Amino acid sequence: MSQAVVLLSALASVGCRGAQSALDPAGPAAARIAALFCWMTLGATIVWLAVVGLGAYYLQARHGTQSRRRTTWLIIGGGALVPTVVLAVLLAYGLALLPDLVALAPAGSLRISVSGEQWWWRVRYRAPDGGAIELANEIHIPVGETVDFHLESVDVIHSFWVPALGGKLDMFPGRTGRLALKATRTGVFRGVCAEYCGTSHALMSFYVVAQERGAFDQWLAQEARPAQAPATPRAVAGQALFLASGCGACHAVRGTAAEGVLGPDLTHVGGRLSLGAGTLPNQPEALRRWLAHTEATKPGVLMPTFGMLSQDDLHALGAYLGELK
Ligand code: CUA
Repeated sequence: MSQAVVLLSALASVGCRGAQSALDPAGPAAARIAALFCWMTLGATIVWLAVVGLGAYYLQARHGTQSRRRTTWLIIGGGALVPTVVLAVLLAYGLALLPDLVALAPAGSLRISVSGEQWWWRVRYRAPDGGAIELANEIHIPVGETVDFHLESVDVIHSFWVPALGGKLDMFPGRTGRLALKATRTGVFRGVCAEYCGTSHALMSFYVVAQERGAFDQWLAQEARPAQAPATPRAVAGQALFLASGCGACHAVRGTAAEGVLGPDLTHVGGRLSLGAGTLPNQPEALRRWLAHTEATKPGVLMPTFGMLSQDDLHALGAYLGELK
């Protein structure tokens, strides 16, 4: 019995850890929600014990030997009083958490705009010169600072959720929602879309990288730069192929003729953690698979499958995009 308890608690603690766990909080909002989950579990256990205890009492009691007064009080106590008190306490506790969870970030906080699109995330920072720095499917934030997320959508309703950092917020077309999130430790946290938004809803995730202020500033300065020129002959060929194949009609690579705005900005795609909004790891082989089997990898995706490309072409394109760090 005791071994089973140890095994269960070990499994539970391993299962609760991770980059996408609401029970492994890395910020104050997520910590409040995790605490609420624990208290709700405790409350549910108390109500369950009261009801099951009454059932067990009934089964073992000999009929006709109990006083009517006693059984009436057991039913009122276990069936009504205990659940009412437990649920009322949980309700009051949950409501008391709300003001902090919906509070806006203080004025002057770092502002990051995120737009949900089928099925990826457009991310915008404000550059020091007032312009916008655009990237996709990856968000870096300075640790210990509250970030003011401005959330919107261009097509259907999506929902922005980073379980380790806080609660979710729906993204509505034509409306801007605001969510304040703070990371209290460095790390990489996974975010997902929490509202069914079409065929590839489940293939729409992103990463939040919480880093020290200095590293964050360095990263943002690098993101603000235009793309570096291809360095190897293969990457040079890849860039020519990229421009000749019409990729630039949808994708921007700042500093080149590719200025499309429909799809993700690829200026620094080589430095990202994932491809296709968390669908594949950012590795050369995965990139070639993405280009040659786009629709099979992400059903319904707007990007056409470039199945006509030869293996040489795919390697060249992969070399070019991989160099865009
Ligand atoms: Cu976007 Cu579900």
